Amino acid sequence: MKKKWWHDKVAYQIYPKSFYDSNGDGIGDIPGIISKLDYLKDLGVDIIWLSPCFCSPLADQGYDISDYYNIDPRFGTIEDIDVLLEEAKKRDMYILMDLVVNHCSDEHEWFEKACEDPMGEYGKFFYIQNGKEDGSEPNNWRSYFGGSAWDKLPGHEEENLYYLHLFHKKQPDLNWEHKEMREEVYKMINWWLDKGLAGFRIDAIINIKKALPVENYSYPADRDDGLVRPQRMLKDAVGIGEFLGEMHERTFKPHDSFAVGEVFDVEKKDLPEFIGDDGYFSSMFDFNETIFGSSDKGWYDAKKITPDDYKRCCFESQAEMDGVGYFSNIIENHDEPRGVSRYIPEGECTPRAKKLLGAMNFLLKGLPFIYQGQEIGMENVVLESIDQVDDISTLDEYQVAKNAGLSDEEALKVVNFFSRDNARTPMQWTDKAQAGFTTGTPWLYVNPNYTEINVAAQEEDPESVLNWYKALISLRKNPEYKETVVYGDTVPVLEDTHNLMAYYRKGENQTILVIGNYQPQAQTVELPCEIEKVLLDNTKGVQNEYSELPAFKDGKLTLEGYQTIAAVVKEA
Ligand code: NOJ
Repeated sequence: MKKKWWHDKVAYQIYPKSFYDSNGDGIGDIPGIISKLDYLKDLGVDIIWLSPCFCSPLADQGYDISDYYNIDPRFGTIEDIDVLLEEAKKRDMYILMDLVVNHCSDEHEWFEKACEDPMGEYGKFFYIQNGKEDGSEPNNWRSYFGGSAWDKLPGHEEENLYYLHLFHKKQPDLNWEHKEMREEVYKMINWWLDKGLAGFRIDAIINIKKALPVENYSYPADRDDGLVRPQRMLKDAVGIGEFLGEMHERTFKPHDSFAVGEVFDVEKKDLPEFIGDDGYFSSMFDFNETIFGSSDKGWYDAKKITPDDYKRCCFESQAEMDGVGYFSNIIENHDEPRGVSRYIPEGECTPRAKKLLGAMNFLLKGLPFIYQGQEIGMENVVLESIDQVDDISTLDEYQVAKNAGLSDEEALKVVNFFSRDNARTPMQWTDKAQAGFTTGTPWLYVNPNYTEINVAAQEEDPESVLNWYKALISLRKNPEYKETVVYGDTVPVLEDTHNLMAYYRKGENQTILVIGNYQPQAQTVELPCEIEKVLLDNTKGVQNEYSELPAFKDGKLTLEGYQTIAAVVKEA
């Protein structure tokens, strides 16, 4: 693997709408982000990924873009972005934006023109298609947000004319088979990269290749609605590499930019093409833990993940990526519940457990992405009614659960656990009104636990989760350990020990052991190595490097409940 400029960095995802509101309208904005750059710098962040803040009707919170070249006035102006880029540069920080080009908004002028003249140039930018002879949809694909992926073309409701939207009906899919459309996308990417962006996080990109002609690809239904999940069709959609390779050659490669793909379901044999030295992307997210236990039937049927499952998922991905490329590791993002509420068993979500989870994930090989609020251990929020939900996907899953026979209460409990809103509640800055996020009324409720969990309080507390994250980041950047933490191989240790997650990071001349007792009870383990120097211990505050060794006798190490240690070991 060739070394790249971004390998040793630490990345942070901002969901602009919920990060910091500078003008009191209840919506986070770019000036708000600028005012928090010093906070992020102090945390140790190098790369910032902004979820979309382009012009958008916000049907899917900005993942429905109506103008790729402009910022939605609710988030600021294009000049604010220029200032953000400048201010980031002054601090040696890099900005990534979200590249959403599987679809645009139905309010984008391309789609408006396509509706005016479906047979004209812009009609070809989309999948516009006659329905079946009986007037029904061209096939039985379901959209990711529920219901058919086909809708009647606006303005042509009396005709048998449909357009495809794999996501919301306000997100028509762009037709990547059409060269002129691709050229528009590359022009736009290069415009942003020339402006000074360091790269992109690439949304839903695995969907750009469809199985065609669409009428040949109906499948047996996988639910009572007679439809089939879009992932089934993607299996038959071969040849995506042609588009991804072209995009890479024309945009990211000449700029030496960083491109991280939101990619699901890539087979191991194809990984080199995706993230190898000259792959389509610089990196892709490891979603192995987030997809664990998911069910075709819906969230209500998903299996909960245990600490042992979590460990297995992480190790599986580490092995998969070994020698191929560099994954981007996450605990959560704006599409997932809060990681601490998901990966720590119910009732055990203490600051110490949060630190264990942080360390276990952060010290794996790969580029760590911290999602806003993760660094202070923000948790899921408990909802009392489905009326409080904003997220379209949660609303759909609630219905799916109810259709499957769950009561209102049971369905609410299920969606509460997985809801994307959990990650989208406002960032908790202080214990003041609205968690210091806004002086107005926030667009989405604040988690009531902000009085306990907030940045201001944690900055003051040397033992806080926030200071633990700072310590993890300084370890990654410490010249003495950096090579090992960034490039060392991951080797599982005591893999079959229940509720224990442990691994070596093996560098050229150094081995670091990361070990965590993933349960509230103490546990004694026989270590296959000898500890030389403890670098981090979540039972001892957060300063680096302890002279005192943990309870270690005759090769046996006793760990307290949720105790986590990172240590240099003697020859292992
Ligand atoms: C993935 C994004 O992360 C999610 O928020 C969005 O709803 C879909 N792609 C569609 O763009």
